[in-house]
Amino acid sequence: MTEQKKQNPLLSVRNLTVQFETDDGLVTAADQVSFHLMKGENVGLVGESGCGKSVTALSIPRLIPSPPGRIAADEILFDGQDILSMTSKEMRQIRGRAVSMIFQEPSSALSPLHRIGRQMTEALLLHRKLPEKEAWQVAQQWLAKVGIADSPERMYAYPFQLSGGMQQRIMIAMALMLSPRLIIADEPTTALDVTTQAQVFDLIRDMKQDDTSMLLITHDMGVVWEMCERILVMYASQIVETGSRDAIFKNPKHPYTAGLLKAIPKLTTSRGKLKDIPGQVPSPFHYPEGCHFQARCPFAMKQCRESQPRFYECGPDHQAACFLLASES
Ligand SMILES: Nc1ncnc2c1ncn2[C@@H]1O[C@H](COP(=O)(O)OP(=O)(O)O)[C@@H](O)[C@H]1O
Ligand code: SF4
Ligand SMILES: [Mg+2]
Repeated sequence: MTEQKKQNPLLSVRNLTVQFETDDGLVTAADQVSFHLMKGENVGLVGESGCGKSVTALSIPRLIPSPPGRIAADEILFDGQDILSMTSKEMRQIRGRAVSMIFQEPSSALSPLHRIGRQMTEALLLHRKLPEKEAWQVAQQWLAKVGIADSPERMYAYPFQLSGGMQQRIMIAMALMLSPRLIIADEPTTALDVTTQAQVFDLIRDMKQDDTSMLLITHDMGVVWEMCERILVMYASQIVETGSRDAIFKNPKHPYTAGLLKAIPKLTTSRGKLKDIPGQVPSPFHYPEGCHFQARCPFAMKQCRESQPRFYECGPDHQAACFLLASES
């Protein structure tokens, strides 16, 4: 994509492609994905399930299993350092300290075998080199900060003794207590009920330092409106639109983005059917020639079936990949 080069972004990803070797051949899960994050910026990566959001995010801290995965990119620069040429040791340091991940399932970040206090303390010992007693105190303070009552006792609990919401809070504490430069939150609340979801987002917002950047992955445009300043829309392995939150919400240019926005539940239409996007995301085995959205697009033309649209500038820092924009630019 033709994203403008930004002055010293914290993260710059250029033409990232992620492929998986499967029994049925090579599939492309992320195709020429480019984006950047400025220091302190909250960016939403949105799109339906299966579009390649997690694969894109996991490529940043190089967490794609290889084999079967293969990452190729012209550039993944984090704070000026080339992620793709780092040694495993350098990557471990980046993952622990500079980049924190919050996943949908706390069980993927918390070990079922160890008490909460021990898990938190070990992370602090490893990455902040604190004396053991101080690390224990800092961990306990973080439990209190994320709203866990009786934090001294909870330090001795195993994850299974805590509710899903509490485990999620602990995962957030673990992600934030090392003061990361970048937080990658991948559908952090999808497994939680609506009330707990709102609490978890409030927590991330309150606890995150102003100069920490966040890449928030979600299929929920409502969440992005609440949390992010800029948006990347992904469809079937490709970024199809990027822009400021206001540009995307007020003036979506890609028919897929417009469809996602129409699918936001509105209180006023609670009895009516949601205007969802008909059809479904194609499997990576069956991406068509041309625009990947063509089978679901009400505006698809002959050209869309023959070639892939390039990015067109739609306004300041707003771009979309759709042939409908060819006449406008
Ligand atoms: N380990 C893997 N092996 C094969 N295909 C994979 C693997 N991980 C992800 N994929 C495929 O990559 C595509 C994108 O997946 P993902 O990034 O998880 O989507 P999203 O997070 O947007 O729901 C999907 O079609 C998925 O099946
Ligand atoms: S390029 Fe064509 S098929 Fe793709 S979104 Fe635009 S109009 Fe629809
Ligand atoms: Mg995902």
